[in-house]
Amino acid sequence: MIRPMRDVIVAANWKMHTTPADAGELARSIAARTRVAGVTRVICPPFVSLAAVGAALSELDSDVGIGAQNVHHELQGAYTGEVSAAMLAGLASWVILGHSERRRDAGETDELVGRKLGRAVDAGLRPILCVGEQLHEREAGQERVVVRRQLRGALGECDPDRLVVAGLVIAYEPVWAIGTGRTASGADAATMATAIRETLAELGFPDRGESIPVLYGGSVTSAAIDEFMAEPAIDGALVGGASLKPDEMAGIVARAGVTAAARGSTG
Ligand code: PGA
Repeated sequence: MIRPMRDVIVAANWKMHTTPADAGELARSIAARTRVAGVTRVICPPFVSLAAVGAALSELDSDVGIGAQNVHHELQGAYTGEVSAAMLAGLASWVILGHSERRRDAGETDELVGRKLGRAVDAGLRPILCVGEQLHEREAGQERVVVRRQLRGALGECDPDRLVVAGLVIAYEPVWAIGTGRTASGADAATMATAIRETLAELGFPDRGESIPVLYGGSVTSAAIDEFMAEPAIDGALVGGASLKPDEMAGIVARAGVTAAARGSTG
């Protein structure tokens, strides 16, 4: 079987950083410094900065994608402070779902993340679904069980063929590596990427999930990225803290570009 070509992707998760006043400048700087063939770049600013990032990138005529960091699981209604998938039309073409900080702070369950996924796909947003175990789960040797449960809970109700067409991306983000300066090893991340595709295969994904990009996330920096890109099972990174620094993003995307060229990715 010929392995399907997967995109090499570097996605920036700005979390609760930047105001509309400074997001455009940061996006411009990152976009200008990360023009590398074969790498799909995505910036995910806070909701209120989506329009400013969009305006800045269109001035540059940039092909950097724009993503939201969350979306509500209902179409509309009495949900004070929430944002629906339809509201993102024209502002974002990607969306991060099930980030561990939302699971922790907003109590998002796998089932809820699955409903968000359905809304995102219906609205034409490309989903980046985050999964990953906590430290005590890894120490108990439960990391594969946890990630399998997260994937089955979130993806179980969706049609796999539809998710492939929607461009589903999975981000493996061990919770203990997020914002801690401590990364997983490349080998461990690759083992988890393989476990993720095994679950996708169980769920009936075409090509046993081989067409789905799997990113690593958790304290990725320009110095750490090579270890992950050296693993054929890993297709890029979801970057938090380092994504606010243009120098770091330039280094990360440049390194990812070397891998993309070696793999023949067209981005
Ligand atoms: P970090 O965050 O790179 O700051 O560890 C990654 C993420 O939460 O997506």
